[in-house]
Amino acid sequence: MRRILAVGVGTGDPEQITIAAIRALNEVDVIFELERATTELNRARVALLERFVERQPGPRRVRVDEPARDRGATAYAQAVRDWRTGRADAWRRAITTDLADGESGAFLVWGDPSLYDSTIAVLDELLAQGDLSFEYAVIPGISSVQALTAAHRIPLNRVAGAVQITTGRLLSATGWPAGATDVVVMLDGKGAYRAVLDDPLDVYWGAYLGTPDELLVAGRLIDVADEIDRLREAARERKGWIMDTYLLRSRAAE
Ligand SMILES: C[S@@+](CC[C@H](N)C(=O)[O-])C[C@H]1O[C@@H](n2cnc3c(N)ncnc32)[C@H](O)[C@@H]1O
Repeated sequence: MRRILAVGVGTGDPEQITIAAIRALNEVDVIFELERATTELNRARVALLERFVERQPGPRRVRVDEPARDRGATAYAQAVRDWRTGRADAWRRAITTDLADGESGAFLVWGDPSLYDSTIAVLDELLAQGDLSFEYAVIPGISSVQALTAAHRIPLNRVAGAVQITTGRLLSATGWPAGATDVVVMLDGKGAYRAVLDDPLDVYWGAYLGTPDELLVAGRLIDVADEIDRLREAARERKGWIMDTYLLRSRAAE
C-alpha cells in the first residue's frame, strides 16, 4: 500500500512548522511539488526542505504539473470542481509513476490543510475514483488565522462567542453575514472590507504573516481602511502578489 501525507507547514515562518511535519519531511520517500502562484512561495518551500530535511540523500522531489484554473469562469463552483478533477488526474499520474507500492509521499500545504485548501478534497476524489489505492494522513499546520491572532495578540473569539470564516468574494457579494459578530476574511483579492465600511467594526489585518514582509494594521475599520488600501497597493506593486487575512469584529456586540 502507498501512503500519502498532507503536511501543513505554516504560513511562512519556518519556526512555526511542527515537529510532526519535520519528522514527516524526513521520513517520506517522495515530496510532490506543486507549482505555486509565485516564485517566492516556490523558493520558500525549497528553503523549508533545505532547512529541515537532514537525511542524506533526502526524499526524491517530484514535480506535479497541474492544470491552470479558469479564473474568468462565471460559474465559480463548477470551475473549481473542474479544476479539482484536473488536479486529481495530474496527481494520479504522479503517484502511479513516481511512488512505488510500500513507499510514502508528501504534499506540502501552506498553513493548515483543513482551511481553504483542496489537498484533502483532491485525495478523497482520487480514492473515490477507485482505480488507485493508498492510505493518507493529515498533519496540521499553523494557519494564517492563528498567525494573524498571534501577531495582533488577540483571542480569535470573544467570551463564549462564535466566529465565522468567509472569503472576500462572499463578503463583497452578500455583505455582513446575518447574526455574525466576528468574521475572519480570507482569499480577498479586492479589499472586500469596503463592502461593510458603514458597519461599526474593528479590523485586525495582516499580510505576508510570518514572513519578513509581514504587515499589520488594527483599528476602527472606517479609520484604517484607506491605510490598508495603501499598504495593499504598495505591497502588490513591490512584490507582485499579496496574501492577507483579517478579522472584522463588530463594535455593536460589545
Ligand atoms: C488558499 S488559502 C490557504 C489557507 C491556508 N491553508 C491556511 O491555513 O492559512 C490562501 C489564503 O490564506 C491566507 N493566507 C495564507 N498565507 C498567508 C499569510 N502568510 N499572510 C496572510 N494571509 C495568508 C490569505 O487569506 C490567502 O488568500
